[in-house]
Amino acid sequence: MPLSDVKAEAAKVLVIGGGYSGLRFARAAAAQGMGVTLTRRQKAGNDASSALRWLVCDPERGLVPPLSELVGTTEVLVTVPPDRQGRDPVFASLAPLLAQLPLQWLGYLSTTGVYGDQAGGWVGEGATPRPGLPRSQARLACEQLWLGSGLPVQVFRLPAIYGPGRTPFQKLRDGSSRMIHKPGQVFSRIHVDDIASSLLFCRQLPAAQRPELLNLADDEPCPSSQTLGYAAHLLGCKLPAVESFDRLAGELSPMALSFWAENRRVSNRRLCRELGYQLRYPSYRQGYRACLAEELSGVSTPK
Ligand SMILES: NC(=O)c1ccc[n+]([C@@H]2O[C@H](COP(=O)([O-])OP(=O)(O)OC[C@H]3O[C@@H](n4cnc5c(N)ncnc54)[C@H](OP(=O)(O)O)[C@@H]3O)[C@@H](O)[C@H]2O)c1
Repeated sequence: MPLSDVKAEAAKVLVIGGGYSGLRFARAAAAQGMGVTLTRRQKAGNDASSALRWLVCDPERGLVPPLSELVGTTEVLVTVPPDRQGRDPVFASLAPLLAQLPLQWLGYLSTTGVYGDQAGGWVGEGATPRPGLPRSQARLACEQLWLGSGLPVQVFRLPAIYGPGRTPFQKLRDGSSRMIHKPGQVFSRIHVDDIASSLLFCRQLPAAQRPELLNLADDEPCPSSQTLGYAAHLLGCKLPAVESFDRLAGELSPMALSFWAENRRVSNRRLCRELGYQLRYPSYRQGYRACLAEELSGVSTPK
């Protein structure tokens, strides 16, 4: 039996934050035979036919799973972002519990926002983080909290996440999408299944070979008008008229404006060249085709 199968069989995984990426990762881990428990803030019914077990975890309301529910957990994925005050909502309550478990790996999902604006340049993990936005400054502090916990933490920095249910298709269909052009602006992205697969790839690497920081991004950062154009091509629908960012800026929400304020190309060199992970979706083209096929097949996807 290959080593990876032996490890998968024995693994007991806890996903703290079973949202979009957490649930997709959980399903992929369960498909490899691992026992998987996920948390969310609301009470969730456990379905006997499902391999996934749900627990409530909402430390802000004093709801933390008891240690007895977590016994034997060997791997943990944390997807919970900082709260509105910029604090990690789960660290203080959960880290002492996790320290009592036989953990071999803890993945923490972060953001490439910690690099700040790079004026469109490539950025790798060796760059000194210079977060410009308050939420990215908070994120960097959360990364440091987890990295300093003494747990076997690996931080994964993510650009825009897309996947089934998180594509431009719906807005193109209902006519609400906008094609915004800002000269020189690009965005990096990653398909949610490449998040799940690369996490599974990393957890089975020998501990000494796991980098503490890892960007998860595809090969092709590009303007959002380019990805929108391809999505419209796949749907066979008309593209909205191009609008200049400068003319539109006054209409955009502060959150949308913050995304357009930073420009960087996220390098996956460490993941793909140094560690040898092979992307399932090297660009939005393969990714969007797969998303459309999954959406049309009627498989339900959250959020
Ligand atoms: N979306 C993107 O494009 C993007 C880009 C870069 C980085 N990221 C980061 O990557 C991670 C995964 O993203 P995602 O889109 O998969 O996230 P998501 O769907 O929003 O899932 C986040 C999970 O965290 C839980 N959570 C949030 N606040 C919590 C709190 N105060 N206490 C306990 N649990 C809490 C949520 O619980 P409920 O299920 O109860 O809501 C949910 O299960 C996040 O940290 C996100 O900020 C996202």
